[in-house]
Amino acid sequence: MYIVGQEEIDAIARVIRTGALFRYGIGAECDRFERRYAEYLGTSHVALTASGTFALTAAVNALGIGPGDEVLVPAHTYMATAMAVLAAGAIPVIVDVDESITIDPDALDDAVGPRTKAVIPVHMWGAACDMDRIMALTDKHDLLVLEDTCQGVGGSYEGRRLGTIGHAGAFSFNYYKNMTAGEGGAVCTADDKLAERVRCAIDPCHFYWQGRSDQQKPFAGNGARASEIMGAMLNVQLDRLPGMIAAMQRERRQILAGTAALGNLGLKPSPMNSPDHDCAAHVMYLMPSTEAAERFVAVFPNVIAGKTGRHNYTEWDQVLIGEGAAHAAMNPYAMPENRECRRSYSRDMCQRSLDILNRTVMVPTHPLHGEQEILDIIHNIGVAARVALGGMSPAEADLRGVQALDAQKFDMTVDA
Ligand SMILES: Cc1ncc(COP(=O)(O)O)c(C=O)c1O
Repeated sequence: MYIVGQEEIDAIARVIRTGALFRYGIGAECDRFERRYAEYLGTSHVALTASGTFALTAAVNALGIGPGDEVLVPAHTYMATAMAVLAAGAIPVIVDVDESITIDPDALDDAVGPRTKAVIPVHMWGAACDMDRIMALTDKHDLLVLEDTCQGVGGSYEGRRLGTIGHAGAFSFNYYKNMTAGEGGAVCTADDKLAERVRCAIDPCHFYWQGRSDQQKPFAGNGARASEIMGAMLNVQLDRLPGMIAAMQRERRQILAGTAALGNLGLKPSPMNSPDHDCAAHVMYLMPSTEAAERFVAVFPNVIAGKTGRHNYTEWDQVLIGEGAAHAAMNPYAMPENRECRRSYSRDMCQRSLDILNRTVMVPTHPLHGEQEILDIIHNIGVAARVALGGMSPAEADLRGVQALDAQKFDMTVDA
């Protein structure tokens, strides 16, 4: 959560006062948000749902992915990416990330097999995937592309909004995301038929309210309808989004410029696929060793990408133990259709990813950071880099106040 204030309170209060608490018939907030967000994204359709996890699941189902299919997912993402694949009866195949900490296009190319049907590139921590190379490769292999944009809300790749480059995009509006209603999610697509299937996946009963269509055959599924309270809050959040992203982009540019001289010590910014366009939610540095990364964060409390405790394939318990469904007969890992899919995983299967992730330090930006706070961050990065890479003793580190604002991005405990 970045900024929530009186405007959100007023918008939610209006919905409650008018009693327009259901999106069909009485409410207008979800419809209004879907129209406005589609326009903001520069695409044709947005469908709201209850979470990013369900947005991914609805999109995977709507794309027609199912038993017998493999879907390539990166080694570094929230487990929901892989869960959506399993929920459709398909098999997630784990692919290395590169130094941008997003899916490595070379590894993606190598990983394509006869059963591969789709790829889910994930714009992790607001950093864009290498979409030009990914789209060229997926065209070559005739694969579907679902962009997991849960962490990339508001960001772009070389001038095109994240989520709109592949066949579909999925967004999360949970508490940690660039735009939030506490919980929430959405799917976007430019494809009319796919949009109709997505709406059916989000609410298989929607035609009772919105009328039957003779274009697409309906199918059964779970429902995860959006609420008008969510829609009302997101309409306010959408107004805030461009300014917030611009502020974070400015801050990152300033921090990178202010720490450029530390390159002499070996402090190297992580390579970005779209450095002028992505969300800039963090400034990332790729340290020369795990030990150096640990020394850095011991002085200036920040997060190492590989050590959040919830974003590496090594933490995807259900995948690693092959529990792909609640009922054994529905478990994709045991389905005869998936016999030829690659279904075995091990904790050390993506060592290269783990090495990169354990060396990547992420310093969060924040739209509410003032000039002095940004200067303090630059100062603190300098101090931490001297301790991590320059032989300065931690006792000599004159750190300036750690920002409580930044803690929410990672659930960090902040002392100062
Ligand atoms: C990359 C990624 N994918 C999917 C999700 C799932 O979103 P939600 O928590 O809204 O279900 C998240 C949420 O943290 C995420 O970070």
